[in-house]
Amino acid sequence: MVQDLTPYRFGLVSLLPDSFAAYARYGVTGRAVAEGRVTLHLENPRDYARNRHRTVDDRPYGGGPGMVLMVEPVLAAIRAAKLASPGVPVVALSPQGERLTQRRIETWAHLPGLILVSGRYEGMDERIYTLGVDEECSIGDYVLSGGELAAMVVMDAITRLLPGVLGSPGSAVADSFSAGLLDHPHYTRPELFEGLAVPPVLLGGDHRAIERWRREQALARTRERRPDLLGPG
Ligand SMILES: C[S@@+](CC[C@H](N)C(=O)[O-])C[C@H]1O[C@@H](n2cnc3c(N)ncnc32)[C@H](O)[C@@H]1O
Repeated sequence: MVQDLTPYRFGLVSLLPDSFAAYARYGVTGRAVAEGRVTLHLENPRDYARNRHRTVDDRPYGGGPGMVLMVEPVLAAIRAAKLASPGVPVVALSPQGERLTQRRIETWAHLPGLILVSGRYEGMDERIYTLGVDEECSIGDYVLSGGELAAMVVMDAITRLLPGVLGSPGSAVADSFSAGLLDHPHYTRPELFEGLAVPPVLLGGDHRAIERWRREQALARTRERRPDLLGPG
């Protein structure tokens, strides 16, 4: 769990800045924004487009379908985001990046902030990665139409690790992947529903027995569903 209480700074480079309302307005993340635990700084490449149509995309050299995000406006937006949040890494969302893990989220949560660059169309001019991006991040082996949803996945996962954001600080520690295992099963009222009963150990009040049961369940689930997390042998 991260302990620093200075606001975490997200710099966001996106052609669709309004889409971040899904992160900024609702639930745990919305509360984190409202309470000043995180700040958002938005930069729209369209504001840096040179021509009067504010064009940010063009046809690909070599031909082929679709449009490509142009280097000048995107790089100018990244540079403006860096001025607002100096010293934080620039991460481009991309299906070709390193696949996102909880470990990577934990590393990023310890930084003062992150600049997240969302692509659109067929993708971004390759020179943007060379000149303005430190890391690339994929949220899985599938293709989205834009990076904004992927950026919000990263933002949500970081935000819930920041101190004071989750109601009970222990909950992030017990979550799947934090201790290298999947989480144990959870139950709440009623005790019996359509023939399915809550395991009796959870009703007995023996906290050591409950801890033991949860650990066993977490291990069994991980072995069954994600043996790769337990390593070889
Ligand atoms: C249609 S995609 C471009 C895909 C690109 N032509 C390719 O095949 O690598 C447009 C944008 O969506 C975002 N995106 C798509 N899939 C993603 C994924 N799995 N993880 C992170 N970002 C993704 C990236 O920002 C990307 O620039």
